[in-house]
Amino acid sequence: MTGAVFLLFGATGDLAKRKLFPAIYSLYREGKLNDRFAVVGLARRPRTNEQFRQDVLDSIQEFARYKADDDAGWASFAEHFSYMSLDIHDVNGFHQLRALTEELDRKFDTGGNRLFYLALAPELFGDVSFNLREGGLLDTSGYHRLVIEKPFGYDLPSAEKLNTQLRQVFEEKDIYRIDHYLGKEMVQNIEFVRFANAFFEPIWNNKYIANVQITLSETVGVEERGGYYDKSGALRDMAQNHMLQMLTMMAMEPPSRLHPEDIRDEKVKVLRSLRPFASAADVRANVVRGQYAAGEFKGKTLPAYRAEPSVAPESTTETFFAARVYVDNFRWAGVPFYVRTGKRLPVKTTEIVVEFKNVPDNVYLSRKHTLEPNLLVFRINPLEGIYMKMNAKQPGSEGVLVPVALDLCQSSKVGINTPEAYERLLYDATRGDSTYFTRWDEVAHAWQYVDQIAAAWAELGAEDLVLYPAGSWGPQRAQELLAENGFRWWPVN
Ligand code: BG6
Repeated sequence: MTGAVFLLFGATGDLAKRKLFPAIYSLYREGKLNDRFAVVGLARRPRTNEQFRQDVLDSIQEFARYKADDDAGWASFAEHFSYMSLDIHDVNGFHQLRALTEELDRKFDTGGNRLFYLALAPELFGDVSFNLREGGLLDTSGYHRLVIEKPFGYDLPSAEKLNTQLRQVFEEKDIYRIDHYLGKEMVQNIEFVRFANAFFEPIWNNKYIANVQITLSETVGVEERGGYYDKSGALRDMAQNHMLQMLTMMAMEPPSRLHPEDIRDEKVKVLRSLRPFASAADVRANVVRGQYAAGEFKGKTLPAYRAEPSVAPESTTETFFAARVYVDNFRWAGVPFYVRTGKRLPVKTTEIVVEFKNVPDNVYLSRKHTLEPNLLVFRINPLEGIYMKMNAKQPGSEGVLVPVALDLCQSSKVGINTPEAYERLLYDATRGDSTYFTRWDEVAHAWQYVDQIAAAWAELGAEDLVLYPAGSWGPQRAQELLAENGFRWWPVN
């Protein structure tokens, strides 16, 4: 890679500790980051360089795939890290930051390249961008890339406002909007499996596929994030981004080239083809919202969402979301995509099931066997791999059909040392590859879709909000969504 100074805003926060420092360290250990880099940790809190380097070391020892076990090696890595206390509303601090960055530029030969990583609340993105410009941090001949975290707005108007602010300072091509699901190995693998296999692409359409099921379930509750989550809910926290992104990867047409813009063009076309809702009643018929109540799980009593810290006692925020979504284009006409996500469900898993239509009524059916449909499953998290369910003759039987599994579990082969999403994304940002970052038009279309649901919910009040016991699979209505079309959720894992 070419050199760069990483300016990490929010350096004392959770994301830096759990994901970003470990990611930088893994890239370094794997030779993807050469010696021409520097990291400046930025936050309000005063901290010396030594204290900051100790924070980085602690985070790596706790969370990284590689441990720092050699003092000399650690020291030469740690010297790339500096810290500066910064009030992001004060432009003077940015002038100082410019001086520090220029010094590091010379010391580590980073060619004037800057990667600004804002691990901050989105309300601050605009001010920070302006001050970066005012403080002269963009006055170099190298690249200036901005990496930002979700949520990108709260709805379409707020996202537009945010985008307008950012675009006054950065070009679209330099804005890297993270959706960490796009950094996951198996989400990236979807396009490879689809487009590199003769036995999938020809049947990847409404003629052969009965439905697609996308599940992103979590066992955790809202933990310490009640303040944020209560204003967001599962629709904005998960559906607007991770769920819709996975759906686009499943549904998009083959891009003409494996180029970031071509791939993202195809994803936008899918978002544009999502069937709009006709009315609040239509939303009610196709969307399920739930909230966890207290429940018993594995011998423990779990508290209700409304009893979580920083959550309003009368909150109607959804912690479960499921929907029947249609992609109204030639390939997918009539094929339902079912999505569901929720907190306090019985397992932590992300997987996508493609259910194929059954073969025509043939010799097997006439023998009165129950023919199970073929399934193709993308296991995304925590197991990674591909699983296929097919039908075969039970060995030794007289034509008894049994489902057999083809299980290609790559996580067990590669072990726990598969690159983390943040490593891949950070690496891509340093290389200028924006394929797995969300472009503005993707974000805008996703908000447009989600805003219709939010508007219908506002109209309906809490009338369709269903409480589900913590530790269960959510409202029964989520099962009915499929049953209405003659389907069922396939068990996960
Ligand atoms: C985040 C959401 O984007 O994704 C969290 O804000 C959620 O609420 C998390 O827990 C899930 O990510 P993962 O990678 O653990 O499945």
